[in-house]
Amino acid sequence: MTLLTFKQKLYTTLESHYPKTELDSFFKIILEDVLKLSKIDFALEPNSTISDQKSDEIDDIIKGLEQHQPIQHLIGFTEFMDLKLEVNQHVLIPRPETEELVHWIVDDFKNNTPIDVLDIGTGSGCIPIALSTNMKNANVSTIDVSIKAIATAKRNATTNNATIQFIHQDILATKKLTNQYDVIVSNPPYVRDLEKIEIQKNVLNFEPHLALFVSNDDPLVFYRHIAQLAKTALKPNGILYYEINQYLGKETVELLQNLGFKNIELKKDVFGNDRMIKASF
Ligand SMILES: C[S@@+](CC[C@H](N)C(=O)[O-])C[C@H]1O[C@@H](n2cnc3c(N)ncnc32)[C@H](O)[C@@H]1O
Repeated sequence: MTLLTFKQKLYTTLESHYPKTELDSFFKIILEDVLKLSKIDFALEPNSTISDQKSDEIDDIIKGLEQHQPIQHLIGFTEFMDLKLEVNQHVLIPRPETEELVHWIVDDFKNNTPIDVLDIGTGSGCIPIALSTNMKNANVSTIDVSIKAIATAKRNATTNNATIQFIHQDILATKKLTNQYDVIVSNPPYVRDLEKIEIQKNVLNFEPHLALFVSNDDPLVFYRHIAQLAKTALKPNGILYYEINQYLGKETVELLQNLGFKNIELKKDVFGNDRMIKASF
């Protein structure tokens, strides 16, 4: 296979499955991450031959994409801020809006004072690893109920030289947090079952439902429980940060108000959706 025949194969096999913009993005990812080439390399030498081993790898990726497997699973990793993170079926693929949440925290603590941070809902480890590597004086712990997510996040911490305390714990079954923190942050499951119809096949069929979904009846269950724990686990001047369901900004603010939180700030993401909250107690 040549670079050009690879491109033709990708677009013709997948054109009925994905919009052109997504095919362009797949092409760029495979070119850069599998073949270690740039678009300029492609433009200069479209007829150069791809090795048999790489051709087989690309064929497998195209087959996976045909079945709507996420490209990040097929190449085995994703990028989050400047980190390369392994992802698999046990962890949520980190989203761009979560980078915005991490930037908010890093900006708030850029004076580099030593702080204790707790992240709830580890997943790939994107939040605790990015906080630890961007805030040199942060002592970061993270909790997840999924042992397989923790195992993945531990590998990601090692490859990114981050020191994190991993805690295997069900936060909903936790009555009290034992330590005190300057920052408690969480991107908990927040997609209501009723929103499943909006969700794309690659997410619904291949990402962990444990990480995504909550019941229609009590969609803020994690926010309420974590906020209750934070009331006694935040140090004086400590801050709670949440990524939130874009449709439930007002409800999440009200929940925090009713629990006695103050200085509540609701923030939009780059797409203009209500996406993050911070508050103190
Ligand atoms: C939305 S994902 C967020 C993952 C990661 N922080 C991110 O931003 O990509 C939520 C995470 O919460 C974890 N989780 C779900 N229920 C939990 C529980 N009861 N206690 C602790 N963690 C839980 C899931 O395993 C998942 O890793």
